[in-house]
Amino acid sequence: MPTLIATEFEDLQLYARGKVRDLYAVGDLLLLVATDRISAFDYVLATGIPGKGRVLTQISLFWFNYLSDLVPNHLVTAEVEKYPAQLRPYEEELRGRSMLVNRARMFPAECVVRGYLSGSGWKDYQRTGNICGIALPPGLRESDRLPEPIFTPATKSMSGEHDENISFDQMVARVGGSHAEELRRLSLAIYAKAADHAIERGLILADTKFEFGLTGKGIVLADEVLTPDSSRFWPSEGYNPGAAQPSFDKQFVRDYLETIGWNKQPPAPELPANVVRQTQEKYEQALQLLTGPAVAAAPVTRP
Ligand SMILES: Nc1ncnc2c1ncn2[C@@H]1O[C@H](COP(=O)(O)OP(=O)(O)OP(=O)(O)O)[C@@H](O)[C@H]1O
Ligand SMILES: [Mg+2]
Repeated sequence: MPTLIATEFEDLQLYARGKVRDLYAVGDLLLLVATDRISAFDYVLATGIPGKGRVLTQISLFWFNYLSDLVPNHLVTAEVEKYPAQLRPYEEELRGRSMLVNRARMFPAECVVRGYLSGSGWKDYQRTGNICGIALPPGLRESDRLPEPIFTPATKSMSGEHDENISFDQMVARVGGSHAEELRRLSLAIYAKAADHAIERGLILADTKFEFGLTGKGIVLADEVLTPDSSRFWPSEGYNPGAAQPSFDKQFVRDYLETIGWNKQPPAPELPANVVRQTQEKYEQALQLLTGPAVAAAPVTRP
């Protein structure tokens, strides 16, 4: 599969371009195309990761199905043979990396669940002893498991800005009390089920971000779900709290960007071939571990 950096489907109506996905309006539906773009430190890099969009799409499809008893989702179909005729000319580019979804009114909040202390949660905890207004016990180390998973919403930033953690009360102000409570309930339930599956496959689900929207069916799980782009997966083997854990997917990219001393301002640099290849392997490995057949002899370490 060649690297797809951006789609140019000229006779379709472009709806939006995110950092990774290109969205087209198709009648009442949306076509989500996951490209091979990769972002780091909130910027899209100049080099893509071949096949990454397919990996993200296949992982999301796995989870939509796996979680369907807990929450309805936006998926209509990912089978290109079932796409409307106007998409036929693009079949080969779309296969494996796209889905047709119900257009949703997206809630203006990112629904983050954390089971472990990392990233912005770790930063907030060090400063204030809490995350999003949730008090945590003192003395926790970076990457420690939390006493229980917590719901830590964030603003959905405009492109180029960083997401900002918000309290549950601020979330209520944005989406209303009953929606906020339902989104929290759903997020925690999904995290619990997904983390159980991940650990069976040798992966700790440290934290993850969901996006929900409203359709005629009520609240649906939308966007991508439980992919390496939206979640921190750590190999359970070698898990060692007290420091940052190697990120499953982007570690090579981040390490490289640190070594060249990029100032984290645009334009974002190119990646050398070996970093691309190692990153591609990590995404493929995540797909295999999460969705492939269970390996009977796989070591299961429960931290
Ligand atoms: N069913 C849906 N209806 C409407 N919008 C959706 C739906 N599913 C996902 N989206 C939106 O599509 C976009 C997906 O693109 P992508 O993941 O590349 O964006 P991003 O970089 O994460 O965020 P941004 O949109 O801020 O650039 C997101 O803005 C997401 O909120
Ligand atoms: Mg996204």
